[in-house]
Amino acid sequence: MTRRKDQLSLGAFLYPTGHHIAAWRHPQAQADAGSNFAHYAALARIVEAAKFDLIFMADGVGTRGRDTEALSRTAVRYVAQFEPLTLLSALAALTERVGFVATASTTYNEPYHIARKFASLDHISGGRAGWNLVTSASEDEAQNFNRDHHVAHAERYERAEEFADVVRGLWDTWEQDAFLRDKESGIFYDPDKQHLLNHRGKHFKVRGPLNVSRAPQGHPVVVQAGSSEPGRDLAARTAEVIFTAHQTIEDARAFYSDVKGRLARFGRSVDDLKIMPGIFPVIGKTESEAREKFEQIQELIHPAVGLSLLSGMAGDVDLSAYPLDGPIPDVTETNGSKSRQKLLLELARRENLTIRQLYLRVAGARGHWQIVGTPEQIVDQMEEWFITGAADGFNVMPPHLPVGLTDFVEHIVPELRRRGLFRTEYAGRTLRSHLGLREPQHPSRTAVAAE
Ligand SMILES: Cc1cc2nc3c(=O)[nH]c(=O)nc-3n(C[C@H](O)[C@H](O)[C@H](O)COP(=O)(O)O)c2cc1C
Repeated sequence: MTRRKDQLSLGAFLYPTGHHIAAWRHPQAQADAGSNFAHYAALARIVEAAKFDLIFMADGVGTRGRDTEALSRTAVRYVAQFEPLTLLSALAALTERVGFVATASTTYNEPYHIARKFASLDHISGGRAGWNLVTSASEDEAQNFNRDHHVAHAERYERAEEFADVVRGLWDTWEQDAFLRDKESGIFYDPDKQHLLNHRGKHFKVRGPLNVSRAPQGHPVVVQAGSSEPGRDLAARTAEVIFTAHQTIEDARAFYSDVKGRLARFGRSVDDLKIMPGIFPVIGKTESEAREKFEQIQELIHPAVGLSLLSGMAGDVDLSAYPLDGPIPDVTETNGSKSRQKLLLELARRENLTIRQLYLRVAGARGHWQIVGTPEQIVDQMEEWFITGAADGFNVMPPHLPVGLTDFVEHIVPELRRRGLFRTEYAGRTLRSHLGLREPQHPSRTAVAAE
Protein backbone atom coordinates (compact mmCIF):
# COMPACT_ATOMS: atom_id res chain seq x y z
CA MET A 1 0.00 0.00 0.00
CA THR A 2 1.38 3.42 -0.90
CA ARG A 3 1.00 6.25 1.58
CA ARG A 4 -0.88 9.31 0.36
CA LYS A 5 0.55 12.77 0.82
CA ASP A 6 -2.64 14.15 2.33
CA GLN A 7 -4.48 13.15 5.49
CA LEU A 8 -8.00 11.86 5.70
CA SER A 9 -11.04 13.98 6.53
CA LEU A 10 -13.51 13.19 9.28
CA GLY A 11 -17.13 14.24 9.51
CA ALA A 12 -19.33 13.65 12.55
CA PHE A 13 -22.68 12.57 11.16
CA LEU A 14 -24.91 13.33 14.14
CA TYR A 15 -28.36 11.80 14.34
CA PRO A 16 -30.01 12.97 17.57
CA THR A 17 -29.69 9.83 19.69
CA GLY A 18 -27.20 8.08 17.37
CA HIS A 19 -27.43 6.06 14.15
CA HIS A 20 -28.61 2.74 15.41
CA ILE A 21 -32.34 2.38 14.91
CA ALA A 22 -32.75 1.51 18.60
CA ALA A 23 -30.16 4.02 19.85
CA TRP A 24 -32.57 6.00 21.99
CA ARG A 25 -33.32 2.92 24.13
CA HIS A 26 -29.67 2.32 24.98
CA PRO A 27 -29.04 2.87 28.72
CA GLN A 28 -26.32 5.46 27.96
CA ALA A 29 -28.21 7.34 25.22
CA GLN A 30 -29.67 10.82 25.60
CA ALA A 31 -33.28 9.91 24.80
CA ASP A 32 -34.55 13.50 24.38
CA ALA A 33 -31.57 14.48 22.18
CA GLY A 34 -33.67 15.76 19.27
CA SER A 35 -35.03 18.61 21.37
CA ASN A 36 -32.06 19.09 23.68
CA PHE A 37 -29.77 21.92 22.64
CA ALA A 38 -27.32 21.31 25.51
CA HIS A 39 -26.78 17.80 24.11
CA TYR A 40 -25.75 19.18 20.69
CA ALA A 41 -23.61 21.90 22.25
CA ALA A 42 -21.65 19.25 24.18
CA LEU A 43 -21.26 17.10 21.05
CA ALA A 44 -20.05 20.04 18.95
CA ARG A 45 -17.37 20.83 21.52
CA ILE A 46 -16.18 17.20 21.54
CA VAL A 47 -16.06 17.11 17.73
CA GLU A 48 -14.12 20.37 17.51
CA ALA A 49 -11.66 19.38 20.26
CA ALA A 50 -10.93 16.23 18.21
CA LYS A 51 -10.28 18.45 15.11
CA PHE A 52 -12.88 16.87 12.86
CA ASP A 53 -13.45 18.64 9.53
CA LEU A 54 -17.18 18.93 9.97
CA ILE A 55 -20.43 18.13 11.69
CA PHE A 56 -23.18 16.88 9.39
CA MET A 57 -26.90 17.17 10.06
CA ALA A 58 -29.11 15.13 7.76
CA ASP A 59 -32.67 16.27 7.29
CA GLY A 60 -36.05 15.50 5.85
CA VAL A 61 -38.99 17.87 5.61
CA GLY A 62 -41.41 15.49 7.23
CA THR A 63 -41.46 12.39 9.38
CA ARG A 64 -40.67 9.21 7.45
CA GLY A 65 -43.13 6.37 7.33
CA ARG A 66 -46.83 5.79 7.96
CA ASP A 67 -46.65 2.83 10.24
CA THR A 68 -47.59 4.37 13.60
CA GLU A 69 -46.68 1.23 15.51
CA ALA A 70 -43.10 1.48 14.17
CA LEU A 71 -42.86 5.26 14.11
CA SER A 72 -43.96 5.58 17.71
CA ARG A 73 -41.09 3.30 18.72
CA THR A 74 -38.28 5.14 16.97
CA ALA A 75 -36.32 8.37 17.29
CA VAL A 76 -34.50 8.39 13.95
CA ARG A 77 -37.24 8.95 11.35
CA TYR A 78 -37.08 12.74 11.64
CA VAL A 79 -39.81 12.38 14.26
CA ALA A 80 -38.74 15.13 16.65
CA GLN A 81 -35.60 17.08 15.96
CA PHE A 82 -34.36 20.58 15.24
CA GLU A 83 -34.37 22.21 11.83
CA PRO A 84 -30.66 21.88 10.98
CA LEU A 85 -29.75 25.38 9.79
CA THR A 86 -31.23 26.90 12.91
CA LEU A 87 -29.37 24.40 15.06
CA LEU A 88 -26.06 24.83 13.22
CA SER A 89 -26.26 28.62 13.44
CA ALA A 90 -26.51 28.32 17.21
CA LEU A 91 -23.63 25.80 17.33
CA ALA A 92 -21.52 28.10 15.15
CA ALA A 93 -21.64 30.68 17.91
CA LEU A 94 -20.18 28.17 20.39
CA THR A 95 -17.30 26.97 18.22
CA GLU A 96 -14.45 28.43 16.17
CA ARG A 97 -13.06 25.91 13.71
CA VAL A 98 -15.27 22.93 12.99
CA GLY A 99 -17.30 23.01 9.75
CA PHE A 100 -21.08 22.61 9.54
CA VAL A 101 -22.97 20.81 6.78
CA ALA A 102 -26.77 20.68 6.66
CA THR A 103 -29.09 18.94 4.25
CA ALA A 104 -31.57 20.95 2.23
CA SER A 105 -33.84 19.58 -0.49
CA THR A 106 -33.88 20.91 -4.05
CA THR A 107 -37.35 19.44 -4.55
CA TYR A 108 -39.09 21.22 -1.68
CA ASN A 109 -37.27 24.55 -1.59
CA GLU A 110 -36.64 27.52 -3.84
CA PRO A 111 -33.01 28.24 -4.77
CA TYR A 112 -33.16 31.80 -3.45
CA HIS A 113 -34.02 30.53 0.05
CA ILE A 114 -31.19 28.04 0.03
CA ALA A 115 -28.56 30.43 -1.36
CA ARG A 116 -29.53 32.98 1.26
CA LYS A 117 -29.59 30.65 4.25
CA PHE A 118 -26.25 28.98 3.54
CA ALA A 119 -24.56 32.29 2.73
CA SER A 120 -25.85 33.53 6.10
CA LEU A 121 -24.53 30.45 7.91
CA ASP A 122 -21.18 30.97 6.18
CA HIS A 123 -21.03 34.54 7.54
CA ILE A 124 -22.23 33.61 11.02
CA SER A 125 -19.65 30.82 11.27
CA GLY A 126 -16.79 32.72 9.63
CA GLY A 127 -16.54 30.45 6.57
CA ARG A 128 -17.52 27.06 7.93
CA ALA A 129 -20.76 26.25 6.07
CA GLY A 130 -21.65 23.48 3.64
CA TRP A 131 -24.90 22.52 1.90
CA ASN A 132 -25.76 18.87 1.42
CA LEU A 133 -27.85 18.99 -1.74
CA VAL A 134 -30.45 16.23 -1.80
CA THR A 135 -33.45 15.72 -4.06
CA SER A 136 -35.45 14.07 -1.21
CA ALA A 137 -36.19 10.39 -1.42
CA SER A 138 -39.41 10.20 0.54
CA GLU A 139 -43.04 10.27 -0.53
CA ASP A 140 -43.95 11.63 2.90
CA GLU A 141 -42.22 14.93 2.19
CA ALA A 142 -44.30 15.49 -0.97
CA GLN A 143 -47.48 15.52 1.06
CA ASN A 144 -46.26 18.40 3.19
CA PHE A 145 -45.68 20.46 0.04
CA ASN A 146 -48.97 20.53 -1.82
CA ARG A 147 -48.51 17.25 -3.68
CA ASP A 148 -50.10 13.81 -3.46
CA HIS A 149 -47.02 12.04 -4.79
CA HIS A 150 -43.29 12.56 -4.82
CA VAL A 151 -41.75 14.14 -7.94
CA ALA A 152 -40.33 11.45 -10.28
CA HIS A 153 -36.62 10.61 -9.87
CA ALA A 154 -35.51 11.93 -13.29
CA GLU A 155 -37.44 15.16 -12.87
CA ARG A 156 -36.04 15.67 -9.37
CA TYR A 157 -32.52 15.46 -10.73
CA GLU A 158 -33.31 17.73 -13.68
CA ARG A 159 -34.64 20.36 -11.27
CA ALA A 160 -31.64 19.79 -8.97
CA GLU A 161 -29.18 20.52 -11.81
CA GLU A 162 -30.80 23.87 -12.52
CA PHE A 163 -31.31 24.55 -8.80
CA ALA A 164 -27.58 24.11 -8.12
CA ASP A 165 -26.70 26.50 -10.94
CA VAL A 166 -29.10 29.15 -9.64
CA VAL A 167 -27.77 28.86 -6.09
CA ARG A 168 -24.17 29.16 -7.23
CA GLY A 169 -25.13 32.03 -9.53
CA LEU A 170 -26.77 33.85 -6.63
CA TRP A 171 -23.64 33.38 -4.52
CA ASP A 172 -21.78 35.23 -7.29
CA THR A 173 -24.12 38.21 -7.42
CA TRP A 174 -21.76 40.21 -5.23
CA GLU A 175 -18.02 40.56 -5.50
CA GLN A 176 -16.10 40.15 -2.27
CA ASP A 177 -15.29 43.86 -1.96
CA ALA A 178 -18.66 45.20 -3.18
CA PHE A 179 -19.66 46.70 0.15
CA LEU A 180 -17.69 49.90 0.70
CA ARG A 181 -19.83 51.15 3.60
CA ASP A 182 -18.04 54.49 3.23
CA LYS A 183 -19.63 56.84 5.73
CA GLU A 184 -17.73 59.84 4.33
CA SER A 185 -18.91 59.54 0.71
CA GLY A 186 -22.23 57.96 1.64
CA ILE A 187 -21.68 54.99 -0.67
CA PHE A 188 -22.81 51.72 0.88
CA TYR A 189 -21.98 49.46 -2.03
CA ASP A 190 -20.33 49.77 -5.43
CA PRO A 191 -22.99 49.08 -8.10
CA ASP A 192 -20.29 47.82 -10.51
CA LYS A 193 -19.59 44.98 -8.11
CA GLN A 194 -23.16 43.78 -8.06
CA HIS A 195 -24.10 41.31 -10.82
CA LEU A 196 -27.73 40.47 -11.41
CA LEU A 197 -28.34 36.82 -12.18
CA ASN A 198 -31.31 37.19 -14.53
CA HIS A 199 -31.74 33.42 -14.72
CA ARG A 200 -34.58 32.07 -16.88
CA GLY A 201 -34.70 28.32 -17.13
CA LYS A 202 -37.20 25.47 -17.27
CA HIS A 203 -37.82 25.38 -13.52
CA PHE A 204 -36.73 28.77 -12.20
CA LYS A 205 -36.86 32.47 -13.01
CA VAL A 206 -34.56 34.36 -10.65
CA ARG A 207 -33.31 37.91 -11.04
CA GLY A 208 -31.13 38.41 -7.96
CA PRO A 209 -29.06 39.80 -6.46
CA LEU A 210 -28.88 37.77 -3.28
CA ASN A 211 -29.59 39.95 -0.26
CA VAL A 212 -26.57 38.59 1.61
CA SER A 213 -23.04 39.73 0.74
CA ARG A 214 -20.54 37.29 -0.80
CA ALA A 215 -19.87 34.38 1.55
CA PRO A 216 -16.52 34.26 3.36
CA GLN A 217 -15.67 31.03 1.50
CA GLY A 218 -16.79 32.53 -1.81
CA HIS A 219 -19.32 29.72 -1.96
CA PRO A 220 -20.30 27.53 0.98
CA VAL A 221 -19.04 23.98 0.25
CA VAL A 222 -21.50 22.01 -1.90
CA VAL A 223 -22.02 18.42 -0.77
CA GLN A 224 -24.02 15.74 -2.57
CA ALA A 225 -25.44 12.45 -1.34
CA GLY A 226 -27.02 10.77 -4.36
CA SER A 227 -25.44 7.73 -5.99
CA SER A 228 -27.67 6.89 -8.97
CA GLU A 229 -26.46 7.71 -12.51
CA PRO A 230 -28.00 11.21 -12.51
CA GLY A 231 -26.82 11.63 -8.90
CA ARG A 232 -23.23 10.85 -9.89
CA ASP A 233 -23.33 13.22 -12.84
CA LEU A 234 -24.77 16.01 -10.74
CA ALA A 235 -22.05 15.42 -8.15
CA ALA A 236 -19.29 15.35 -10.75
CA ARG A 237 -20.46 18.68 -12.16
CA THR A 238 -21.39 20.55 -8.98
CA ALA A 239 -20.31 18.86 -5.75
CA GLU A 240 -17.12 19.32 -3.76
CA VAL A 241 -17.82 16.52 -1.28
CA ILE A 242 -19.85 13.34 -1.69
CA PHE A 243 -21.41 11.55 1.25
CA THR A 244 -22.01 7.99 0.25
CA ALA A 245 -22.87 4.51 1.58
CA HIS A 246 -20.93 1.34 0.76
CA GLN A 247 -20.84 -2.06 2.40
CA THR A 248 -17.57 -3.28 0.95
CA ILE A 249 -14.22 -1.80 -0.03
CA GLU A 250 -14.68 -3.15 -3.57
CA ASP A 251 -17.94 -1.24 -4.04
CA ALA A 252 -16.44 1.87 -2.49
CA ARG A 253 -13.41 1.72 -4.83
CA ALA A 254 -15.60 1.21 -7.89
CA PHE A 255 -17.76 4.20 -6.91
CA TYR A 256 -14.70 6.33 -6.13
CA SER A 257 -13.02 5.71 -9.45
CA ASP A 258 -16.27 6.04 -11.40
CA VAL A 259 -17.13 9.46 -9.91
CA LYS A 260 -13.56 10.79 -9.97
CA GLY A 261 -13.38 9.61 -13.59
CA ARG A 262 -16.38 11.80 -14.49
CA LEU A 263 -14.74 15.03 -13.28
CA ALA A 264 -12.55 15.71 -16.33
CA ARG A 265 -15.69 15.92 -18.47
CA PHE A 266 -16.66 18.98 -16.45
CA GLY A 267 -13.19 20.55 -16.52
CA ARG A 268 -12.48 19.54 -12.92
CA SER A 269 -9.57 17.72 -11.30
CA VAL A 270 -9.71 14.74 -8.93
CA ASP A 271 -8.80 16.96 -5.98
CA ASP A 272 -11.86 19.16 -6.53
CA LEU A 273 -14.16 16.49 -5.09
CA LYS A 274 -13.73 14.59 -1.82
CA ILE A 275 -15.51 11.30 -1.30
CA MET A 276 -16.56 10.45 2.26
CA PRO A 277 -18.37 7.13 2.83
CA GLY A 278 -20.19 6.54 6.09
CA ILE A 279 -18.68 4.35 8.79
CA PHE A 280 -20.66 2.92 11.68
CA PRO A 281 -18.04 1.76 14.21
CA VAL A 282 -18.68 -0.36 17.28
CA ILE A 283 -15.47 -0.21 19.28
CA GLY A 284 -14.27 -2.59 22.02
CA LYS A 285 -10.99 -3.15 23.84
CA THR A 286 -11.23 -6.70 22.51
CA GLU A 287 -13.14 -8.08 19.57
CA SER A 288 -15.49 -9.95 21.88
CA GLU A 289 -16.21 -6.81 23.90
CA ALA A 290 -17.10 -5.00 20.66
CA ARG A 291 -19.40 -7.86 19.63
CA GLU A 292 -21.12 -7.82 23.02
CA LYS A 293 -21.71 -4.09 22.73
CA PHE A 294 -23.21 -4.59 19.30
CA GLU A 295 -25.46 -7.45 20.45
CA GLN A 296 -26.63 -5.35 23.39
CA ILE A 297 -27.97 -2.66 21.10
CA GLN A 298 -29.28 -5.06 18.44
CA GLU A 299 -31.47 -6.71 21.07
CA LEU A 300 -33.29 -3.41 21.55
CA ILE A 301 -34.79 -3.45 18.03
CA HIS A 302 -38.52 -4.09 18.03
CA PRO A 303 -39.50 -6.25 14.99
CA ALA A 304 -42.08 -3.66 13.85
CA VAL A 305 -39.33 -1.03 13.78
CA GLY A 306 -36.85 -3.27 11.93
CA LEU A 307 -39.42 -4.25 9.33
CA SER A 308 -40.57 -0.72 8.74
CA LEU A 309 -36.99 0.53 8.36
CA LEU A 310 -36.35 -2.15 5.78
CA SER A 311 -39.58 -1.45 3.89
CA GLY A 312 -38.66 2.22 3.66
CA MET A 313 -35.09 1.57 2.56
CA ALA A 314 -36.13 -0.98 -0.02
CA GLY A 315 -38.32 1.66 -1.67
CA ASP A 316 -41.55 1.90 0.35
CA VAL A 317 -42.40 -1.75 -0.32
CA ASP A 318 -44.84 -3.45 2.02
CA LEU A 319 -43.03 -6.48 3.44
CA SER A 320 -45.54 -7.15 6.24
CA ALA A 321 -47.32 -9.91 4.31
CA TYR A 322 -44.10 -11.96 4.04
CA PRO A 323 -42.70 -14.22 6.77
CA LEU A 324 -39.94 -12.52 8.78
CA ASP A 325 -37.79 -15.61 8.53
CA GLY A 326 -38.32 -16.09 4.80
CA PRO A 327 -36.47 -14.61 1.82
CA ILE A 328 -36.90 -11.07 0.45
CA PRO A 329 -39.51 -11.08 -2.32
CA ASP A 330 -38.89 -9.57 -5.76
CA VAL A 331 -39.69 -5.85 -5.66
CA THR A 332 -40.15 -3.27 -8.39
CA GLU A 333 -37.67 -0.43 -8.88
CA THR A 334 -38.40 2.48 -6.56
CA ASN A 335 -38.99 6.15 -7.31
CA GLY A 336 -37.18 6.89 -4.02
CA SER A 337 -33.56 6.04 -3.31
CA LYS A 338 -32.53 3.80 -6.22
CA SER A 339 -28.96 3.22 -5.08
CA ARG A 340 -30.01 2.25 -1.54
CA GLN A 341 -32.65 -0.18 -2.79
CA LYS A 342 -30.10 -1.83 -5.11
CA LEU A 343 -27.51 -2.06 -2.35
CA LEU A 344 -29.95 -3.81 0.00
CA LEU A 345 -31.29 -6.27 -2.51
CA GLU A 346 -27.80 -7.20 -3.64
CA LEU A 347 -26.72 -7.75 -0.05
CA ALA A 348 -29.72 -9.99 0.66
CA ARG A 349 -29.19 -12.09 -2.46
CA ARG A 350 -25.40 -12.29 -2.02
CA GLU A 351 -25.64 -13.58 1.55
CA ASN A 352 -28.97 -15.35 1.27
CA LEU A 353 -30.50 -13.29 4.08
CA THR A 354 -34.05 -13.53 5.40
CA ILE A 355 -36.15 -10.42 5.98
CA ARG A 356 -35.28 -10.47 9.71
CA GLN A 357 -31.56 -11.03 9.06
CA LEU A 358 -31.52 -8.18 6.56
CA TYR A 359 -33.16 -5.68 8.89
CA LEU A 360 -30.83 -6.71 11.70
CA ARG A 361 -27.92 -6.21 9.31
CA VAL A 362 -28.92 -2.69 8.26
CA ALA A 363 -30.63 -1.45 11.41
CA GLY A 364 -27.50 0.16 12.71
CA ALA A 365 -25.80 1.68 9.74
CA ARG A 366 -28.78 1.75 7.35
CA GLY A 367 -26.73 0.52 4.43
CA HIS A 368 -23.45 2.15 5.43
CA TRP A 369 -20.26 0.31 6.28
CA GLN A 370 -20.62 -1.29 9.70
CA ILE A 371 -17.49 -2.40 11.52
CA VAL A 372 -17.30 -4.08 14.91
CA GLY A 373 -13.84 -4.53 16.43
CA THR A 374 -10.84 -3.14 18.28
CA PRO A 375 -9.36 0.28 17.44
CA GLU A 376 -6.47 -1.38 15.58
CA GLN A 377 -8.80 -3.54 13.49
CA ILE A 378 -11.01 -0.58 12.63
CA VAL A 379 -8.10 1.74 11.79
CA ASP A 380 -6.43 -0.98 9.67
CA GLN A 381 -9.52 -1.01 7.48
CA MET A 382 -9.97 2.77 7.40
CA GLU A 383 -6.34 3.05 6.34
CA GLU A 384 -6.85 0.50 3.59
CA TRP A 385 -9.95 2.32 2.30
CA PHE A 386 -8.05 5.62 2.38
CA ILE A 387 -4.84 4.62 0.69
CA THR A 388 -6.25 2.27 -1.91
CA GLY A 389 -8.68 4.76 -3.45
CA ALA A 390 -11.97 3.93 -1.75
CA ALA A 391 -12.31 7.12 0.34
CA ASP A 392 -10.82 10.57 0.96
CA GLY A 393 -12.25 10.50 4.46
CA PHE A 394 -15.18 9.18 6.45
CA ASN A 395 -18.49 10.33 7.78
CA VAL A 396 -18.48 8.86 11.28
CA MET A 397 -21.88 7.53 12.36
CA PRO A 398 -21.81 6.84 16.12
CA PRO A 399 -24.18 4.01 17.11
CA HIS A 400 -25.56 5.99 20.07
CA LEU A 401 -24.77 9.39 21.49
CA PRO A 402 -22.84 10.73 23.22
CA VAL A 403 -20.86 7.56 24.05
CA GLY A 404 -20.42 6.34 20.45
CA LEU A 405 -18.72 9.64 19.66
CA THR A 406 -16.49 9.74 22.73
CA ASP A 407 -15.46 6.11 22.04
CA PHE A 408 -14.35 7.15 18.54
CA VAL A 409 -12.52 10.24 19.76
CA GLU A 410 -10.75 8.41 22.57
CA HIS A 411 -9.81 5.22 20.74
CA ILE A 412 -9.86 5.68 16.96
CA VAL A 413 -8.59 9.26 16.55
CA PRO A 414 -5.33 8.62 18.53
CA GLU A 415 -4.63 5.50 16.47
CA LEU A 416 -5.22 7.42 13.22
CA ARG A 417 -2.80 10.09 14.46
CA ARG A 418 -0.20 7.55 15.51
CA ARG A 419 -0.19 6.41 11.88
CA GLY A 420 -0.01 9.98 10.54
CA LEU A 421 -3.44 9.68 8.94
CA PHE A 422 -5.23 12.50 10.76
CA ARG A 423 -4.37 16.07 11.80
CA THR A 424 -3.36 17.02 15.33
CA GLU A 425 -4.28 20.69 14.80
CA TYR A 426 -6.44 22.63 12.40
CA ALA A 427 -4.29 24.35 9.77
CA GLY A 428 -6.97 26.86 8.75
CA ARG A 429 -10.24 28.37 9.83
CA THR A 430 -12.66 27.50 7.03
CA LEU A 431 -14.35 24.27 6.04
CA ARG A 432 -12.71 24.57 2.61
CA SER A 433 -9.31 24.74 4.20
CA HIS A 434 -9.93 21.65 6.38
CA LEU A 435 -11.05 19.69 3.32
CA GLY A 436 -8.23 21.00 1.09
CA LEU A 437 -10.70 22.56 -1.36
CA ARG A 438 -10.00 25.63 -3.46
CA GLU A 439 -12.02 28.80 -2.95
CA PRO A 440 -14.04 29.54 -6.11
CA GLN A 441 -12.98 32.75 -7.81
CA HIS A 442 -15.67 35.27 -8.61
CA PRO A 443 -16.48 35.01 -12.37
CA SER A 444 -15.51 38.67 -12.88
CA ARG A 445 -11.98 37.83 -11.72
CA THR A 446 -11.84 34.74 -13.92
CA ALA A 447 -12.87 36.98 -16.84
CA VAL A 448 -10.09 39.49 -16.01
CA ALA A 449 -7.54 36.67 -15.78
CA ALA A 450 -8.63 35.38 -19.19
CA GLU A 451 -8.27 38.79 -20.90
C1 LIG B 1 -24.49 9.93 3.85
C2 LIG B 1 -25.80 10.22 3.23
C3 LIG B 1 -26.57 11.20 3.77
C4 LIG B 1 -27.82 11.50 3.25
N1 LIG B 1 -28.55 12.46 3.82
C5 LIG B 1 -29.80 12.70 3.39
C6 LIG B 1 -30.60 13.65 4.02
O1 LIG B 1 -30.19 14.28 4.98
N2 LIG B 1 -31.85 13.85 3.56
C7 LIG B 1 -32.34 13.18 2.46
O2 LIG B 1 -33.48 13.41 2.08
N3 LIG B 1 -31.58 12.25 1.84
C8 LIG B 1 -30.33 12.01 2.28
N4 LIG B 1 -29.57 11.06 1.66
C9 LIG B 1 -30.14 10.35 0.52
C10 LIG B 1 -29.63 10.91 -0.77
O3 LIG B 1 -29.93 12.26 -0.92
C11 LIG B 1 -30.23 10.19 -1.95
O4 LIG B 1 -31.62 10.34 -1.96
C12 LIG B 1 -29.90 8.75 -1.87
O5 LIG B 1 -28.53 8.58 -1.67
C13 LIG B 1 -30.32 8.07 -3.15
O6 LIG B 1 -29.82 8.74 -4.23
P1 LIG B 1 -30.11 8.24 -5.68
O7 LIG B 1 -31.59 8.32 -5.87
O8 LIG B 1 -29.33 9.19 -6.55
O9 LIG B 1 -29.63 6.84 -5.70
C14 LIG B 1 -28.30 10.78 2.15
C15 LIG B 1 -27.51 9.77 1.58
C16 LIG B 1 -26.28 9.50 2.10
C17 LIG B 1 -25.45 8.45 1.47
